[in-house]
Amino acid sequence: MEKREIFGSRLTVIFAMAGSAIGLGNIWRFPFIVGEHGGAAFVLIYILATLLISLPVFIAEVTVGRRSRTSSYGAMSSLAPGKGLWKFAGVLSIAIPLIIDSYYSVIGGWSLDFLLKSCAMEFVKTDPGNVTSIFGSFITSTWSPIIMHLVFLAACAFIVANGVKAGIEKFSKFTIPVLFVLIVLMIVYSVSLPGATEGVRYLLKPDFSEINARSFAYAVGQSFYSLSLGMGAIITYGSYVKKEENIVATSAGTAVSDLMFAILAGLAIMPAVFAAGIEPGAGPGLIFQSVPFVFSSMSASHPAIGAAVSIIFFLTIVVAAMTSCISLLEVGVSFLKDRYGVNRKKGCIMLFLLCGAAGVLCSLSFGPLKDITLWGMNIFDIFDWLSSNILLLVMAFLTVVFVGFVLKKEDVWDEITNSGTKKVNARMFDVIYFLIKWVAPVAIVIIFITNFIF
Ligand code: PFF
Repeated sequence: MEKREIFGSRLTVIFAMAGSAIGLGNIWRFPFIVGEHGGAAFVLIYILATLLISLPVFIAEVTVGRRSRTSSYGAMSSLAPGKGLWKFAGVLSIAIPLIIDSYYSVIGGWSLDFLLKSCAMEFVKTDPGNVTSIFGSFITSTWSPIIMHLVFLAACAFIVANGVKAGIEKFSKFTIPVLFVLIVLMIVYSVSLPGATEGVRYLLKPDFSEINARSFAYAVGQSFYSLSLGMGAIITYGSYVKKEENIVATSAGTAVSDLMFAILAGLAIMPAVFAAGIEPGAGPGLIFQSVPFVFSSMSASHPAIGAAVSIIFFLTIVVAAMTSCISLLEVGVSFLKDRYGVNRKKGCIMLFLLCGAAGVLCSLSFGPLKDITLWGMNIFDIFDWLSSNILLLVMAFLTVVFVGFVLKKEDVWDEITNSGTKKVNARMFDVIYFLIKWVAPVAIVIIFITNFIF
């Protein structure tokens, strides 16, 4: 059998994992959720949730991946053979990324289209009053969003087809630093606009009166999504991590990069949105309507600057979405390779066809198929809701229970401390183990219930 590929240095592992983590979740969901839930007070809770719950789950996923050295499908069942539940977890870990990839690449396609529109200076040329309608008419049309979705997905599949080292690792090594530079450039522009301080205040002013049980559920849910947890992606990437690598350090490095990027994205977006005098809205509206409106209204006197910033902005989104989409595809490729011996290139083509077709349905659900709904949600929303609010939590729960109760404690110790050789001392290991075994599962159950009750 072919030798399993592995990532190079610690930094490249962090870049690849951060590539998976940093994505649309950071750019459109985080800034809005923060503003809605008490600004800096929520950021504090988010940091706590990341450290106490998501980071341990992350470490658990990397542990399972590296210990099993196989795809997320077989990871748990290979470590605890003969248990149906872990086979089920394996199936979930393949189904979830396929579902997410189908709608995620549709948004990737929208971003690509808006990048092209930015290059054509469409936003600066359009009257601000009309610019917000560009998005609505684009996504409700039939062909353009489908073509863009397929182009975006094909580009991601192409990178995955080149392999872990020559494809994923090389791409993220280059793009992650670029993403940070781009977002900082965007912040410079954004905070220099008149009236921008209001946006910074919206994001950072602590308002503890907004904090309640639901804020905790939001914080944990958002940080799971943002760190790509419960979706097989980190288990799969974990299986490419060298045996000598320090799991705690790479996991913490990824979590910190993801958190930093989310805060930077907020600082890039909110001041501009406030400077333009618009109410920040949730979801796609924020980045595809409000922000183009900013470019249109703020750059009447300097169209070239407006055009340049909109290119920077949409390029950031396209690249961030690509590195995330790539990690989702890799889950499927790794499964097809390990389970059925399908080679990487063929696997990529199969996944492209599958997610491409499902994505076409998601794309059409804003136009010709908009009347197909379930509980008021269209196909696109169902894909998102089912994967992000339900399946992801179930999968994350199964993973921490597996590491906490099924794997032997000595094996977990062996993996996390590299048989005691890494700088993870006994006390630190005990804390991490306790968080994985008790805190994370209880927290996930509470969030699950909160999501349904409130
Ligand atoms: N973490 C990505 C984001 O914040 O946009 C989304 C994502 C990527 C989810 C990869 C799941 C995944 F496997």
